[in-house]
Amino acid sequence: QKPHIAIIGSLNMDIVVEADRPPMLGETVMGKQVHFIPGGKGANQAVASARLGAKTTMIGAVGNDAFGQELILAMRHEGIDTEAVKTVSDSPTGVASIVLAQGDNQIIVVAGANEACLPQDLTTQEDRIADADLVLLQLEIPLETVVSAAKTAKRLGKTVVLNPAPARPLPDELLQNVDVLIPNESELFLLAGVEAGHDIESAMRSLLNKGVQTVVTTLGAKGAAYLSESDGAGFVPSHSVQVVDTTGAGDSFNAGFSYAYATGCSVADSVAFATKVAALAVTRLGAQAGMPTLTQVEEFNRE
Ligand code: RIB
Ligand code: NA
Repeated sequence: QKPHIAIIGSLNMDIVVEADRPPMLGETVMGKQVHFIPGGKGANQAVASARLGAKTTMIGAVGNDAFGQELILAMRHEGIDTEAVKTVSDSPTGVASIVLAQGDNQIIVVAGANEACLPQDLTTQEDRIADADLVLLQLEIPLETVVSAAKTAKRLGKTVVLNPAPARPLPDELLQNVDVLIPNESELFLLAGVEAGHDIESAMRSLLNKGVQTVVTTLGAKGAAYLSESDGAGFVPSHSVQVVDTTGAGDSFNAGFSYAYATGCSVADSVAFATKVAALAVTRLGAQAGMPTLTQVEEFNRE
């Protein structure tokens, strides 16, 4: 039985410029190549989810422009239900300006039409949410929509996974409706209200105290740590791979975790699966373009 994952989140066109190094403030450097690649945390997670074999529904907004059409087409091509991605006429499709240098990146996102993904869209799309097993959220759409999505999903008895990226403080009423929170290290420290370098497990503990069931912290090349009311604590080291582009690494991890968790895997097994999905994603250029299929993850398993 395929799980059904509903994603309420952003769609961006990523304008990726490759250079030997990023410019310093006020400096101009020559780049090597430019790529226009579909991105946005919501859409990236949707594509990863679909490639893993989940039935995938996207709820979001694009502008009435060429980028918007291209983003929707790219998702349809992956078999994602995009009927609930609306096209708005008063703002442009979201854009991310990405500098890619030595496998690492700097990103500026202009949300544009993503700001038009509103709580009322969830009311219109409630049937889609009701049909899903798991609802996957990020923070590139208005916070009130994220809060409303988590509440709606909980009311309908769904598992709620929140990737709190980009980092921002969150109200307790949101965390109370989140089953699984998947921050990176800096997002974890910000949400826990502690200094960088603080003990990770105690920071995760403070979020469990706010009502989250499970916290999974992605630690980049180190791996991922988790703490869960139901599944205890653990750490899964990452796989060493040849890194080409880390853009969307977090997105691939979130989708991988959500897919496995929605199929009934434990937190530990879901983290282990997500770690493989992310390892494969960073070996390829582009956020959506680099997402692996289930077969590729299974083959990676056997290596
Ligand atoms: O998580 C990676 C994504 O963040 C990129 O695709 C970009 O669109 C930004 O939203
Ligand atoms: Na990638």
